[in-house]
Amino acid sequence: MTEQASQEEISAEIEAIEAEARLDIARGSAAELHPRRNYPPYRSSVLRHPTHELVRVDPEEVERVSPAFGHTDVNVLESDLTIQHSGEPLGERITVSGRVLDGEARPVRHQLVELWQANAGGRYVHKRDQHPAPLDPNFTGVGRLITGDDGEYSFTTIKPGPYPWRNHLNAWRPAHIHFSLFGTAFTQRLITQMYFPGDPLFALDPIYQSITDPAARARLIGSYDHSLSVPEFSLGYRWDIVLTGPKSTWMESEEAHA
Ligand SMILES: [Fe+2]
Repeated sequence: MTEQASQEEISAEIEAIEAEARLDIARGSAAELHPRRNYPPYRSSVLRHPTHELVRVDPEEVERVSPAFGHTDVNVLESDLTIQHSGEPLGERITVSGRVLDGEARPVRHQLVELWQANAGGRYVHKRDQHPAPLDPNFTGVGRLITGDDGEYSFTTIKPGPYPWRNHLNAWRPAHIHFSLFGTAFTQRLITQMYFPGDPLFALDPIYQSITDPAARARLIGSYDHSLSVPEFSLGYRWDIVLTGPKSTWMESEEAHA
């Protein structure tokens, strides 16, 4: 097994790549709004990024055999992750709301939005999660809903904790919530992550930093919105998801996950 890199080594690699990206922009290249699929500071991306053109398929053909969901399958209670068990989960209750928009700021209505996240201690309910933080018997960490007429969505959950991973020595992911948007069929599925403002781990995280454009990265951070905070109950965060165009939210490739 090769020795793990230190955070200092990873941070130096991140800075060198970003400096090179800034130079490219100064020479006239367009800013990179999406993550690099082959991003060496994110170690496993080197071996598993696609090296061939993606195979194009006829979406209609795929949809004939792929699972489908009906709007009636989604219960409104599934957007509240704090009521799935007999007791309440531990942690800071939050309300995460926003709108799903297309590149022209038009609402994307009646879309399936799913989220999954770690608990307040940074632990997932997943057998491969080896982080020795406690599981919370009152928190599973998954929810879903259908966007409203104005593209709006709102989840009630608890703020996830940061967690360690094995990219390098002392590697920690900033607190984040994974989001999946389905479109109208499996072939349109998009996956991304939302972060929380002011996280001290942003500069150190090779997944967050794999988007070399600072403005594109910043669009993954929700903003604290006091008007969304529920008195005596939760703190509110607003995060809009823009599917296309220059202000689009970064989406990860199918095989990426951490
Ligand atoms: Fe995660």
